[in-house]
Amino acid sequence: MSSLLIHSMSEFASLIVPALDAAGASRVVEIGAEHGGMSQILADYAELKNGELVSVDPAPSRAFLDWLPSAPRVTHVAKPSLEALPEIGAADAWLIDGDHNWFTVYHELGVIRELCRKEGRPLLAFLHDVGWPCGRRDSYYAPERIPEEFRHEYDYDSGVSLGTDLLLPNRGFRGRGAFAWAVHAGGPRNGVMTAGEDFLRDCHEKGEEMAFAFVPAVFGLGVLFDLDAPWRDALAGIFVPFHEHPLIAKLEENRLRNYLRIIDIQDASAVQLRRNAAGQSSGGAA
Ligand SMILES: C[S@@+](CC[C@H](N)C(=O)[O-])C[C@H]1O[C@@H](n2cnc3c(N)ncnc32)[C@H](O)[C@@H]1O
Repeated sequence: MSSLLIHSMSEFASLIVPALDAAGASRVVEIGAEHGGMSQILADYAELKNGELVSVDPAPSRAFLDWLPSAPRVTHVAKPSLEALPEIGAADAWLIDGDHNWFTVYHELGVIRELCRKEGRPLLAFLHDVGWPCGRRDSYYAPERIPEEFRHEYDYDSGVSLGTDLLLPNRGFRGRGAFAWAVHAGGPRNGVMTAGEDFLRDCHEKGEEMAFAFVPAVFGLGVLFDLDAPWRDALAGIFVPFHEHPLIAKLEENRLRNYLRIIDIQDASAVQLRRNAAGQSSGGAA
């Protein structure tokens, strides 16, 4: 993905780090490390608090693996989240940014809830990609890890764009082999926001009330926490001013439109280059 497109949870550090501090978080679990953008911020936080970061990612980048030896408070678990979480145990805060689909996120939240309840720790989770495009559309890094009954029809080559729910063949924002999109957007059990909402509904049915804030920037940050947590007012103070803020949402939409336009321009110039090359080679053969 181009650096033109900021996408790391580290962009939310100015909110997440004060929230961890306010919650007195010491043991933090991060699902999805990639290049370690957020991991480095969490490692600095752990250093400051004599805490610990457990970073779960079955396939992080070389840059993350090269950085690890210099981060003594970080443990890397090279497994998919749903395999790793039960053996990791409870933590004070969870950052969820691994495989962005309903099945994975809904079940991650379920396991996290169990772990917190078992040890009597309040739940605090930061959920990335609750906005467009993953909020209402699954994406799959490894479709084979999702049970068939929960997996939507998917496509590696097509892309998404604003203003349409249709997938665009070889156009739009796409994974280029790294991940696939669900062919259809919306509907039940589809997308990260839907997973969060379904989890909140389950908690409500169990008589557990949770707060949910949505910061509509950088693909969307959801913040979930127990309403009876001792630090709930401090957390509300941090996130309420950003919750569904229309100006932030407008800036995010503008950012996405500009990025999608760049992808269109890049695609058009790639087509032109191929045409020129084909023209030259047929000209050479004549
Ligand atoms: C969007 S990146 C994470 C970015 C990182 N959190 C940040 O803020 O800079 C997603 C990462 O999740 C990892 N991943 C995919 N499926 C996963 C799973 N089931 N469990 C844990 N990590 C997963 C991928 O290997 C990839 O490195």
